[in-house]
Amino acid sequence: MQVTVVGSGYVGTTLAACLADVGHDVTAVDIDPDVVAAVNDGRATIHEPGLDDLLADHANDRLRATTEYDGVPDAAVTFLAIGTPSREDGSIDLGPLTAAAEMTGEAIAAASEDDGATPEGDRHLVVVKSTVTPPGVREIREALRAGAGEAADRVELATNPEFLREGSAVDDFQHPDKLVFGTESGWAAERLETLYDPLLASTDADVPIVRTDPETAVMIKYANNAFLASKISLANDLGNICKRFGIDAYEVMDAVGLDDRIGAKFLRSGVGYGGSCFPKDVDAIRAASREAGYEPALLDAAVAVNDGQPERMLDLLDSHVDVAGERVAVLGLAFKPGTDDVRNSRAIPIVEGLRERGSEVVGYDPVAAENARELFPGIEYADSADAALDGAAAALVVTDWDEFAALGDAFDAMTIPNGADGPVVIDGRRVIERREGLTYEGLTW
Ligand code: UDX
Repeated sequence: MQVTVVGSGYVGTTLAACLADVGHDVTAVDIDPDVVAAVNDGRATIHEPGLDDLLADHANDRLRATTEYDGVPDAAVTFLAIGTPSREDGSIDLGPLTAAAEMTGEAIAAASEDDGATPEGDRHLVVVKSTVTPPGVREIREALRAGAGEAADRVELATNPEFLREGSAVDDFQHPDKLVFGTESGWAAERLETLYDPLLASTDADVPIVRTDPETAVMIKYANNAFLASKISLANDLGNICKRFGIDAYEVMDAVGLDDRIGAKFLRSGVGYGGSCFPKDVDAIRAASREAGYEPALLDAAVAVNDGQPERMLDLLDSHVDVAGERVAVLGLAFKPGTDDVRNSRAIPIVEGLRERGSEVVGYDPVAAENARELFPGIEYADSADAALDGAAAALVVTDWDEFAALGDAFDAMTIPNGADGPVVIDGRRVIERREGLTYEGLTW
C-alpha cells in the first residue's frame, strides 16, 4: 500500500518506519529539510531503540522523505502526525496540524484537477495520528475539507490514536494492546484494516480492534492517558499517607495490584510522572472539558498531586540538611529511564528548587545530559553517577535508571553535611538500596 505520513517527529517517524517494515511504500513529509535528510540517510533524529535499524533498512527503498506533499494524492492512506504544542491554559494549539490538513486537502484537489479522476476512483483517507481533542477533530476535518475545496466530498477524515511509550515505541507499535479506528464509513475502516493486516499477521497476539467514530477514538486516547496518570497520582496520594504512618507504600501497592480489577502496573509512587504525553494530554482534556462547561475535579486533583511530589521530595531533604552552599547530586534528568527526553521531567522542579536553596547542583544522566544542558546551562554535569556523588552532601534520585541500583560504594565518596548523621540520599523512584552510613529516605516508603 502507498502511505504518506505528514510530520516526522517521534510519532511520525516511528509510524513511517514501522509501516515500511511491514511492506508498505511510505513517503514521509516534513517541513524541516534536516529531518528529511536524516530519514533519507537512514538515521533517526530522536533516541528510540530499534528506530535507527528500521530507517537504515528501509530508507530510499520502501521509505523516502520529502518536504513536499506530492506523495499525498497517490497514497491509499495519508497520516497526519504533526505536533500539537500546548498553550498557556493547557489547551493544544492546532495551528500546525490544521495547516497540514489544509495542505493535504489542497494536494488532493490539485491532483484531482490534473487527472480528472472519477469520484469513485479518487477517494482519499486522511488519518489523524496526532493526539487531538474531540472538538479538535472537527476543526481538522473542516481544514481538510476547506483545502480540498471542490474535492471535499472525496476526502474522508479518520482518527487512529497511538499508544506508544517513549523508549519502546517501535516495540509498542509492533505489538499493540489494541488498535482504535475512528472512521465515518465502513470503507475507511476496511482501508485501515488492510493497512494494519501485515502488522497483525506478524504478531501471534490476538489484537483487539476497536471500531468507532473519529471523535470517540480520540476520547479513548485521552481517557487512557488520564486514567494512567490518575493511577500514578492515586498511588502517590496513598504513598504520601503511607509515609506519614511510617508504612512502605510499595508493600501496600504490591498487594493492592494483585486485585485484577486494579492491576499491578502504574502503581509505583515517588516523584511523579513527566514526559511529553501525560502532563500535556491531561491538561488538554481538562482545558477542553472546562471549555465545554465541566470542571474535571478528579483530573485537577491528579495534576495537583503530581505537581506536589517534587516539592515533597525537597521538603524531605530540608528535614535532614540545609543544602545552601552544599554540593547536591541529581541522579537522573530524563523523565523516565530509556530515553533522553527531559520534557516535563521531574528533574526540572527539583533542580529549580535546589538552586533556590543556594545549592551547588551537579546533574548526571546516562543519555539525557545534553538535552538537560539546554534547560539548565548553569549547573555542573558529571560524566558518571560516581563523579556526581563524589563530594556531594546529598543526592536526589529522580529517574529509575537501572545503573543507579548498582552504585554501591560510590556513596562512600559523599561528604557528611553539617548537622547530619551521614550523606543524605532521597530516593524518588525506589532504586537505591538502604546502606549503612547513609541517611536514606524513600519519598513514599
Ligand atoms: C505514556 C503512555 O504510557 C503512552 O501510552 C502514551 O502514548 C504516551 O504517554 P510515556 O510518556 O512514554 O508513555 O511514558 P510511561 O512509561 O507511560 O511513563 C510516564 C511517566 O510516568 C514517567 O515519568 C514515569 O516515570 C512515570 N511513572 C510510570 C510513575 O511515576 N509510576 C509508574 O508506576 C509508572
